[in-house]
Amino acid sequence: MTKKPPVPGSYWIESAPGGPGAPLDRDVTVDVAVIGAGVAGLSTAWELARAGRRVAVLEAGRIAAGVSGHTTGKLTALHTLVYDRLRRTRGAEASRLYARSQTEAIEHAAAVVDLLDVDCAWERRDAYTYARSADRVAELRAEAAAAREAGLPASFVTETGLPFPVAGAVRVQDQAQFHPRRYLLALADDLRAHGAQIYEQSPVVGLKEGHPCRVTTESGARVTARDVVVATHYPVFDRALLFARLAPRRELVVTAPIPADRDPQGMYITPEHDTRSVRTVPREDGGRLLIVTGEKFTPGTGDTTERFARLEAWTAAHFPGARRCHRWATQDVFPSDGTPLVGLLHPAARHAYVATGFGGWGLSGGIMAGSLLTALITGREQPPWKDLYEPRRVGPVLRDAPRLLRQQADVARHFVGDRLRSPGVDSVEELPPDSGAVVRLDGRRRAVYRDPDGALHAVSARCTHLGCLVAFNAAERSWDCPCHGSRFTPEGRVIQGPATRPLEQRDI
Ligand SMILES: Cc1cc2nc3c(=O)[nH]c(=O)nc-3n(C[C@H](O)[C@H](O)[C@H](O)COP(=O)(O)OP(=O)(O)OC[C@H]3O[C@@H](n4cnc5c(N)ncnc54)[C@H](O)[C@@H]3O)c2cc1C
Ligand code: FES
Repeated sequence: MTKKPPVPGSYWIESAPGGPGAPLDRDVTVDVAVIGAGVAGLSTAWELARAGRRVAVLEAGRIAAGVSGHTTGKLTALHTLVYDRLRRTRGAEASRLYARSQTEAIEHAAAVVDLLDVDCAWERRDAYTYARSADRVAELRAEAAAAREAGLPASFVTETGLPFPVAGAVRVQDQAQFHPRRYLLALADDLRAHGAQIYEQSPVVGLKEGHPCRVTTESGARVTARDVVVATHYPVFDRALLFARLAPRRELVVTAPIPADRDPQGMYITPEHDTRSVRTVPREDGGRLLIVTGEKFTPGTGDTTERFARLEAWTAAHFPGARRCHRWATQDVFPSDGTPLVGLLHPAARHAYVATGFGGWGLSGGIMAGSLLTALITGREQPPWKDLYEPRRVGPVLRDAPRLLRQQADVARHFVGDRLRSPGVDSVEELPPDSGAVVRLDGRRRAVYRDPDGALHAVSARCTHLGCLVAFNAAERSWDCPCHGSRFTPEGRVIQGPATRPLEQRDI
């Protein structure tokens, strides 16, 4: 079989590949162990190192190559439609604190770019949440009013730089866009220069809390630390059952070069069509690279190939002549009450912290988490938004019970329902090359993949996190779990948590 030519993946990684780092191969003792080297982990480690703490960062794969290496790279306090909801559910003060904390994170990033002289294509831009349908104008007006009341330079507008008319938009001025991976690689370089230790290819599989805490990696090497920060995106250690409050949503991204005179200038997002988000990046030839994100969905459900086709068709229709260059996909974690969870990991925790639930806005959120966790760990003055992001909050979660129950019903459906549904393929003979399916063999479910050369690979179809059934994602060649978003290679290795163990090998 002739293999399809590969489509370039993340532009951020392609344009800033970085070098490989060494794994942890011995036991070390530090003040703080940070698990996960995305924007949340690296920002936290950087702040702590600057505050004089000895830090070790443990990354399962490569630094800044998880979700943070696959985003759209906008730094804005306008998070689609967050302020009106916050004002209604948690009050005007909570909404103000959210705006302040996110704005402070953006300005903090601007200061870091200056301080470290980071070449990360930093550009100031207005951010817009727009809609084409007149039905959503009232919602946008309410959001503009709530964002203004929260202290942002927000207004309702009907004109934007987009090459198509909109019914209305919320505009927040003077936000920023950047190259997130270049920014994070610069943080990592500076961390090393300040004596911090960064280990790659070092998945953490164990956390023992105590005085001190102990973190164990897959190779058996251990880090002893007074404090531990779990910044693994979806928390891999979840003693507060946070997973019941966190829903994974996957999104697709495509890029296309466009001439500079067709740059829409701002950063745009619409909740329509399961999200469309637009920005551009400067190219070396003087043109711009258009980045379009969209098609939000629960991982492990539906056909990702069709979704890519829809997103590409939308891009071509709305930016005529734009021809796809890269495409990739990634996912974020959405908390049931819409506010990230940053603070102590569980009610009894004393030295274990978590940063998660950024709901599609974890670049400013992760930078905010770095400052907040550093304040909590060092005991320095705590920001007034500490309680807003408190992971152990109860009130907002109870208020959001109906949404939470719907979310859990969805998980239960995948847990029980998928077991009862008959699989799509009855025998492995039906499987074409380079495809996979969950097949019942000898009365048991196997996740079977036929590689392009015809060889079959079989693993258990039960996700090693909590046992939901995985489904094959043909566009990305992976087994994806619909319950909490774990992803595995066709051979069963973990690509993305919360699962930390591979799918079990099975005979065919
Ligand atoms: C399509 C898309 C576009 C987005 N665009 C924007 C945007 O424009 N602006 C914005 O603010 N936000 C955006 N976001 C959200 C933002 O990208 C995320 O919220 C943020 O990157 C999450 O950062 P993180 O550090 O929590 O996770 P990650 O970047 O995924 O970092 C977690 C790290 O932990 C590692 N890890 C996992 N398990 C282990 C383990 N057991 N041991 C050791 N390491 C482990 C992973 O390998 C990973 O590197 C977007 C999200 C999506 C899905
Ligand atoms: S990710 Fe939780 S069961 Fe699969």
